Amino acid sequence: MRASIVARLRAAGCVFAEDEADLLIAAAPTRDQLDDMVQRRASGLPLEHVVGWAEFCGLPITVGPGVFVPRRRSEFLVGQAIAAARHSASPGGPWLVVDLCCGSGAVGVAVAAGLSALGQVELHAADIEPAAVQCARANLGSVGGTVYQGDLYDALPPALAGRVAVLVVNAPYVPTGEIAMMPPEARLHEPLVALDGGLDGVMIHRRIAAAAPDWLAPGGCLLIETSERQAPQTAAAMTAAGLKPVVSVDEELDATVVIGTLRRVA
Ligand SMILES: C[S@@+](CC[C@H](N)C(=O)[O-])C[C@H]1O[C@@H](n2cnc3c(N)ncnc32)[C@H](O)[C@@H]1O
Repeated sequence: MRASIVARLRAAGCVFAEDEADLLIAAAPTRDQLDDMVQRRASGLPLEHVVGWAEFCGLPITVGPGVFVPRRRSEFLVGQAIAAARHSASPGGPWLVVDLCCGSGAVGVAVAAGLSALGQVELHAADIEPAAVQCARANLGSVGGTVYQGDLYDALPPALAGRVAVLVVNAPYVPTGEIAMMPPEARLHEPLVALDGGLDGVMIHRRIAAAAPDWLAPGGCLLIETSERQAPQTAAAMTAAGLKPVVSVDEELDATVVIGTLRRVA
């Protein structure tokens, strides 16, 4: 049975056919469901949508249909956010963490899980898509926290203004004209709103940076995942908003994060 599944997956172009077959066999409750799952995977649905979860920072994250699948490279964003909290004005916590454009909530959950061993964390997350919000609510259950639905900061309770220690963001940053060149798994099965960063891919970063000083605590950080090519524009948006940006790169994960700090009050 395993060999025939591997063969079907390989014929459909799955590069890691053996590993995927094992995951599908482990996830399927019955033989009929296994056949159906293999068929859906072979038709191009992302593996994570077929099995219903993705591994992220060693944590199992529920990923429903129509929800962005967390990427391995975003684990760098998580590490940078944890480091920023540890070097903040209150290195032992408590930390108020906001995951904006949260999708499944993977980034916020992983940041909270990493920090909770060191101090107290209050996690808030928000997304514009109802499917993402529902998924994030399920995932935040493991660490506690609240998920809101709405357009960027409009979703957040006004009581968070001026208090956020770590504002962690993986917003859409693919330039509109490059979406057609993305792999079909993303282009066909993840919502456009999760990918499209506008004409130059940095439109949402500019909106996020512009309002960040209203939400950050003094000395608080805004961390935005971007690409190496777009990093200067993401950093410029932070400078224009009055934040002090630093670009951080991980070559192995092909990951770039811009970290903007709000000046501490003298
Ligand atoms: C690239 S996905 C990243 C999701 C998640 N942060 C992660 O890394 O897995 C971007 C997310 O931003 C959300 N989004 C796009 N525009 C938004 C907006 N104006 N306000 C709030 N969320 C938005 C999308 O629904 C999507 O879930």
